[in-house]
Amino acid sequence: MKVIYPGSFDPVTNGHIDIIKRASVNFEEIVVAILDNKSKSPLFTLEERISMLKDATSEFENVTIDSFSGLLVDYVEAMDTNTVLRGLRAISDYESEMRNALANKSLNNNIETLFMVSKAEYTFLSSSVVKEIAGFNGDVSNMVPESVSVKLKNKFR
Ligand code: PNS
Repeated sequence: MKVIYPGSFDPVTNGHIDIIKRASVNFEEIVVAILDNKSKSPLFTLEERISMLKDATSEFENVTIDSFSGLLVDYVEAMDTNTVLRGLRAISDYESEMRNALANKSLNNNIETLFMVSKAEYTFLSSSVVKEIAGFNGDVSNMVPESVSVKLKNKFR
């Protein structure tokens, strides 16, 4: 089965990588789809986010990195699959994830959203938390891949 793992990945965290790693065992093909949203102003450009994800997932042969804009359901259909994968960290994620999954289902009844529960150690971890800590010169080396840690230092220098 081919699954689409969508997100902003601004930047990718060890929590994302853990989901990708575990999904690479359970699914035949994982496409990590980075949202290219012109109306949001991400810290990292799309090109930077693609590069960091490619770097961090190079060991997984069935994982590819792509980007999309517009509706996720349209992208998923264009990719010849119907399955979206999302990570669930805590009960606080549930409400927004449920809303998105139901919105996607109402847009396209063929779309299925599967959830993978994050490892307990990553429950607190998000791209926003990482950016906030790095912005105050805090140590994020155990929260993100090495190349991301270096790029964050450069951004906030
Ligand atoms: O990493 P994020 O920011 O939680 O990812 C959210 C994402 C990209 C999965 C979601 O915002 C999305 O699918 N955006 C594309 C626009 C869309 O299809 N919206 C309808 C669902 S509410």
